[in-house]
Amino acid sequence: MIPYKHEPFTDFSVKENKKAFEEGLQTVESYLGQDYPLIIGGERVITEEKIVSYNPGKKNEVVGRVSKANQDIAEKAMQVADEAFKTWRKVKPEIRADILFRAAAIVRRRKHEFSALLVKEAGKPWNEADADTAEAIDFLEYYGREMLALKDGKKVESRPGEYNRYDYIPLGVGVVISPWNFAFAIMAGTAVAALVAGNTVLLKPASTTPVVAAKFVEVMEEAGLPKGVLNYIPGSGKEVGDYLVDHQRTRFISFTGSRDVGTRIYERAAKVQPGQVWLKRVIAEMGGKDTMVVDQDADLELAAQSIVKSAFGFSGQKCSACSRAVVVENVYDQVLDRVVELTKELSLGETTTPETFMGPVIDQAAFDKITSYIEIGKEEGRLVAGGEGDSSKGYFIKPTVFADLHPNSRLMQEEIFGPVVGFTKAKDFDHAIEVANDTDYGLTGAVITNNRMNQEKAREDFHVGNLYFNRGCTGAIVGYQPFGGFDMSGTDSKAGGPDYLTLHMQAKTTSEML
Ligand code: SER
Repeated sequence: MIPYKHEPFTDFSVKENKKAFEEGLQTVESYLGQDYPLIIGGERVITEEKIVSYNPGKKNEVVGRVSKANQDIAEKAMQVADEAFKTWRKVKPEIRADILFRAAAIVRRRKHEFSALLVKEAGKPWNEADADTAEAIDFLEYYGREMLALKDGKKVESRPGEYNRYDYIPLGVGVVISPWNFAFAIMAGTAVAALVAGNTVLLKPASTTPVVAAKFVEVMEEAGLPKGVLNYIPGSGKEVGDYLVDHQRTRFISFTGSRDVGTRIYERAAKVQPGQVWLKRVIAEMGGKDTMVVDQDADLELAAQSIVKSAFGFSGQKCSACSRAVVVENVYDQVLDRVVELTKELSLGETTTPETFMGPVIDQAAFDKITSYIEIGKEEGRLVAGGEGDSSKGYFIKPTVFADLHPNSRLMQEEIFGPVVGFTKAKDFDHAIEVANDTDYGLTGAVITNNRMNQEKAREDFHVGNLYFNRGCTGAIVGYQPFGGFDMSGTDSKAGGPDYLTLHMQAKTTSEML
């Protein structure tokens, strides 16, 4: 087995790469607007009601029309997944892992097509789409190998005359509710982690990006996944999501999305339903209010570049995005001025070429929410860049910077999930860490400093699941920087890390007298 190594990113300044991506776009364009059925037990189910997926950068372009599950269909899917679990759980881990490796190979061959689909369906810039697809491949390769490492359980001691074993067995049917912002990577990663561990899955992808999920389910079928193991059931959260979260046969829920929905799922899953004979597990990865701290002894150019990239990459629509910059006061003006300068240089528009830095936000609701926060920001702080939106053709919002915010202001406390970053001044480094920690969330953070003692202080005291030094706070790589947050950011499941698969399994001790 080749050791795991993350999928390289594509360099679009190379002519052949750009051309290959354009071909990917053409492939996607050839199937825009098609209908996609639900997939339950391998069967295609077509419903009258549809979820329509639009290109957020070109509102009148329909990416696809997807059948929509209701409660009756969700019940049928649950029965199918429950039945499939009886056989899938006994399939050897090696075979389950092989299916992931084959799927990785298929996606790798169609890499630019998948990325192009993300450009259309999620409005991603090319480099962000490319990274999303690379991460999906990484999850397949990494979790496959992790399963092989766990297949014989873990070591325990045995006394003379005794043989003890400690093995991991699967849980049952998992409900996977995936987000639109990493519409491929997180959707695929959360689904295949559950599958490779021997569980069966009901996949409910985000309603804004269901087409990439449909394409992925087809890849898993092609890779040899038996019918009924992965079921594709897009639908409304209130109707289908709640129904399945509450279901007595649901064994676990793997959710990535907003804090509101995550806490709702956590509460509902805690209630033991009539006929339910287990306590459901919940993996919930939710929001962030991620902070970059800039020390006085720091590379200020690096600080400004990192803030801009982390705040505005994919229009700030990452749970890891930098939405707060806390800068020690004697370098505050310098960092702020440079960030404003760099922000004003950024290109915004439909992401039809690799040169466009920033595309749209995902939909009208996001556009309305973000622009309303910009209005709040105008009251709370000083608008120094951006501040405008235009939703006539797509949902475009200029990269926006607010200065001189109070640490307790709404802009510095509430998750906006858009291209808005707020600056606040700290008296000194200790104060900066205090301000950075003053949030309900604890996902990512970064510190720009040349002071080793301050770096060590941050390592101990900056309370986030992913802490970065002298770089931005986005872009965790599977198998290199396991990803997940503290506090209201979620259950700290650390996707792409060595503990992730065991969250989808239970350990069984057996002890035999020899
Ligand atoms: N894993 C992504 C990042 O690190 C966020 O989901 O940016």
